[in-house]
Amino acid sequence: MNFELTEEQKLVQKTARDFSRTELLPGAVDRDVKKIWPKEHIKKMAELGFMGMMTSPKFNGGGMDTISYTLAMEEIARSDASASVIMSVNNSLVCYLLEKYGSDFIKDSFLPQLASGKKLGAFSLSEPQSGSDASNMNTVAIKDGSNYIINGTKNWVTNGKYSDYVLVFAITEKGVGHKGISCFLVEKSFDGFEVGKPEDKLGIRSSDTTELYFDNVCVPKTHLIGKEGEGFRIALSTLDGGRIGIAAQALGIAQSALDNSISYSKERQQFGKPIAMNQSIQNKLADMAIEIESARLLTRKAAWLKDSKLDFGYAASMAKVYASEVAMRASTECVQIHGGYGYIKETGVERLMRDAKITQIYEGTSEIQRLVIARHLLK
Ligand code: CAA
Repeated sequence: MNFELTEEQKLVQKTARDFSRTELLPGAVDRDVKKIWPKEHIKKMAELGFMGMMTSPKFNGGGMDTISYTLAMEEIARSDASASVIMSVNNSLVCYLLEKYGSDFIKDSFLPQLASGKKLGAFSLSEPQSGSDASNMNTVAIKDGSNYIINGTKNWVTNGKYSDYVLVFAITEKGVGHKGISCFLVEKSFDGFEVGKPEDKLGIRSSDTTELYFDNVCVPKTHLIGKEGEGFRIALSTLDGGRIGIAAQALGIAQSALDNSISYSKERQQFGKPIAMNQSIQNKLADMAIEIESARLLTRKAAWLKDSKLDFGYAASMAKVYASEVAMRASTECVQIHGGYGYIKETGVERLMRDAKITQIYEGTSEIQRLVIARHLLK
């Protein structure tokens, strides 16, 4: 067993860390308060090769392994969880899905632009009435000659506003459950496609989350991904990989909570000494460090299983559920250590607590991750 990163992985980590500290961190609080989408930062992340890290170089991707991706995700999330979710959707949901399941036409036409970050993608599965019960959707795609006509409403779509292409899941055959769901690439320029207003969220406020409306949107059959009826399995297998990315995002938030807690507790004086001299603070720091390291090991293990082409879905769920709960605990303790200063926006640490919460919800709630793990144990 070797825990040492390769030279290439160390370089990815350092590049992401330097960019994150020098360019993402300085304006992160302001972008969060004002809900400013990080346009220039995403452009720079594309130039650094962070928008299609695992995609093959044949399609302008970085050709890197999943471990490298988790290292970059962790470092980006350490300063700005909003930027990291924009990155994760494009990498592990959109580019991954297209490379694995797209036709040659789809891969040649869309993947190079997405993997290089010149264009941005979104993944649209949930609907107002179907979140965890994802196959219970109402959006339909009716075949009409060499096209499909899509009607319906999707919600909670990360990158809903700023994406150029959206992967949409819709029913092509009614009455056969998940076997009637198919996946389509929809171009934003198609008639009948409308983006709803951005949601006003608790956290990850500088990323955009919207509803999407489809009113007789005509999609050529060339834009069907995989075969008719394969959409739900495509969605779930893609989410397995996405959950590793969210685990890494949660890790970055948790690590930031620990970084901030260490520096503040060394500097803050009460009763004539730094609060870090108190055992109650030291215990909090130690517990955070133990949990973060455990979450990191679970995340690396899931990434390693995926890179080794072994079954990794249950490990991805373990990493996500644990890392997201660690992020929530660590960020809450970080606010506690900062006292009143932790409760105001200026200090920047209450943002960690708000950002951590979504990692327990999106790409499958903690309850759904436990269901996936239990099904694996009991099969
Ligand atoms: N990979 C491939 N296929 C899979 C799979 C996987 N990981 N898991 C299940 N399947 C297959 C099953 O074998 C089955 O196929 P067959 O009938 O042919 O055998 C089919 O998919 C349906 O499986 P289930 O019967 O297990 O499906 P279910 O309805 O019981 O649901 C679930 C399972 C785990 C609850 C699933 O619905 C789920 O993961 N729900 C959560 C949805 C989710 O994560 N949404 C996130 C939205 S996207 C988002 O948040 C993105 C963003 O913008 C940040």
